[in-house]
Amino acid sequence: MSQTTAVYASFRSIGAYVPEKILSNADLEKMVDTTDEWILKRTGISERHIAGENEVTSDMGAKACEKAIERSGIAKEEIDLVLCATVTPDYFNMPSTACIISDKLGIRDVQAFDISAACSGFVYLLSVAKAFIESGMKKNVLIVGAEKFSSIVDYTDRSTCILFGDGAGAAMICATDKKEEGFIDLHASADGSYSDFLVTPAPGTVNPVSQRVIDEGLNFVQMKGNETFKLAVKTLTKDVKEILAKNEINSEDIPHFIPHQANYRIIKAVGDALKMNKEQVVLTVGKYGNTSAASIPMAINDIWESGRLQNGELMLLDTFGGGLTWASALLPFAGKAVEK
Ligand code: ACO
Repeated sequence: MSQTTAVYASFRSIGAYVPEKILSNADLEKMVDTTDEWILKRTGISERHIAGENEVTSDMGAKACEKAIERSGIAKEEIDLVLCATVTPDYFNMPSTACIISDKLGIRDVQAFDISAACSGFVYLLSVAKAFIESGMKKNVLIVGAEKFSSIVDYTDRSTCILFGDGAGAAMICATDKKEEGFIDLHASADGSYSDFLVTPAPGTVNPVSQRVIDEGLNFVQMKGNETFKLAVKTLTKDVKEILAKNEINSEDIPHFIPHQANYRIIKAVGDALKMNKEQVVLTVGKYGNTSAASIPMAINDIWESGRLQNGELMLLDTFGGGLTWASALLPFAGKAVEK
């Protein structure tokens, strides 16, 4: 009788790319009716990075991927799936940004596709990679969250333009037979009845490109900020409590809680509800703003590069975004720590 060995998905490496140009609160004060004090107090954001005019989502994604691949010790030729999460793709219809990133990396004849789950994109990708790996279909999955969010932000709308930044974060998710290296649990969900909380009305079949789209600025992101804020705190807290309880893990045993970086006040409220201390909660929103699908991998990259993330340490990821979508994941870091 043949016996099959169980296969688990493991988080092998992380990489990120942050564009050079900085947009500070002082810069925004010159663009809209706002102040550094208001932005800091309401969001915790001091600055965000903005991609160059000719720098597109796939450029940033490919640079983050290069780092993740190099740090994984996996050869490009061994990658058998490339997945990209973005709501600011190079092209809105086709080709997918994953296909373009694959080409820029020199990865050919490999399945590649995009997913759209807004800020939940990276954790959604983890669920897709896990399913492919644990079903035995793929072994080495390259995932990347990449956003040129500045391309859909109206820089005359003070309620949104202060929040968002550009960037990319990537990871190698690989098959392992070591259960202790595998993802512990992952939960992803959505509720389309809140789809009007965060929406980019055009272009799409509801609002195809037209003069009206341009005149009314329907190509820019629109957000019900306050309603999103309240729902985010509630959903994120509930999701984390559930995943911890289900796996009988106490919040004090989590060394790295890495929530979606949308607003310091949301992160603080969730951290407090979970009785987490400052050292446990990873905070990068102050310097990057909200980079949507790139926010969580950029934050993981920060703690990896600073030497805070060690092999085997538990990460708790928690996110929400347009859709509405939300997701949480509990997993060990199965890669090498940074070499100092
Ligand atoms: N500067 C000064 N005043 C401002 C600014 C600004 N940049 N923006 C809004 N205001 C004003 C408003 O006009 C309002 O004035 P009024 O009372 O005279 O009408 C006042 O400030 C309060 O506005 P609120 O919207 O109630 O402020 P709030 O405390 O909710 O903060 C914010 C706004 C920062 C947008 C907050 O609601 C938030 O962070 N929401 C969550 C957004 C989010 O997390 N999105 C994540 C998902 S993103 C994705 O999936 C792509």
